[in-house]
Amino acid sequence: MHMRVITLTVNPVIDKSVSVAGISPNTKLRCSAPTYNPGGGGINVSRALKKLGSDSLCMYLAGGPTGHHLKQLLDHEGVEQLVVPIKGWTRDNLAVTDTSNNQQYRFGMPGPHVEKEEWEAILKQLEQYLKESDYLVASGKLSPGMPNDFYTQVAAIAQTKKARFVLDTSGEALIQASKSNIYIMKPNLGELSTLSGIDSISALELESIAKKFMDGHDCETLVVSLGAKGALLATKYEMEHVPTPTVLQKSTIGAGDSMVAGMIVSLLQGKTFSDMVKYGVACGAAATMHEGTQLCNKDDADKLYEWIKRQKNIPVKSI
Ligand SMILES: Nc1ncnc2c1ncn2[C@@H]1O[C@H](COP(=O)(O)OP(=O)(O)OP(=O)(O)O)[C@@H](O)[C@H]1O
Ligand SMILES: [Mg+2]
Repeated sequence: MHMRVITLTVNPVIDKSVSVAGISPNTKLRCSAPTYNPGGGGINVSRALKKLGSDSLCMYLAGGPTGHHLKQLLDHEGVEQLVVPIKGWTRDNLAVTDTSNNQQYRFGMPGPHVEKEEWEAILKQLEQYLKESDYLVASGKLSPGMPNDFYTQVAAIAQTKKARFVLDTSGEALIQASKSNIYIMKPNLGELSTLSGIDSISALELESIAKKFMDGHDCETLVVSLGAKGALLATKYEMEHVPTPTVLQKSTIGAGDSMVAGMIVSLLQGKTFSDMVKYGVACGAAATMHEGTQLCNKDDADKLYEWIKRQKNIPVKSI
């Protein structure tokens, strides 16, 4: 059976980056010519998948001149797209690097207001496109105007279509969707705390909190990403800690999205959940080796994966 990958991004962004020599108030700051990159959870997963050699259909809501620009940028990268139009203008975020001290300032925008008919239109497209065994990867925040149960509605469509729903989001949208049937969830530590209703999680508590989550939810696989500490895989039957190699870290932007893309590539190759997390960790670490919003590069990811596989097996506890 041919398994397709569809990514879903409801609040995409154009990441605009500039540099300036010194930042001070009340003066005109002369910036370099900007560079533009497509961004937003699912869009980055599609871009990372492309870099890893896998195609996907990148489905997103976009509008206005910035929406057109986003489509051009993705066309340029050869990403197949399905754009659901909205009246509001797609947001653009700004990253300013101060070259006098190499500090980066990142300004994020909320995104356009999305009308009910607009978010309903993307649900209809999903109903039309999704087929049995497809991977549907929803990643990123909701736009203003969207209901917090939006991803719960997406999960219900995926379940009806027997597609595999992969979710990477945060806040109330994550809490609500976590009650659904989900194939893979990829919270980071902060997001797992939100899900568990606690302020923070220490390394000592992590496994028991993950187990509690798995016992209480209809989730096949939980992958908790731990930044420079790698990731924890939890299924109903096993738990495994995957360390990340130490790399020369330039920017962690896009690490989570590259990790999700790597996990999907591994699943498409029929690998186990354990190998899936190892390749995901390798791709996440590979993404941190490059400046700015650059995602993982396949050669780096493949080398890091070999390193991870060579590590002594980390105890797999029966739970
Ligand atoms: N400093 C680092 N060194 C090595 N690997 C890293 C580092 N930071 C992240 N990674 C890798 O990337 C994966 C995902 O990173 P992280 O846990 O920071 O995700 P996230 O918080 O969801 O990130 P994002 O900001 O992209 O949403 C980690 O599991 C790890 O494999
Ligand atoms: Mg993340």
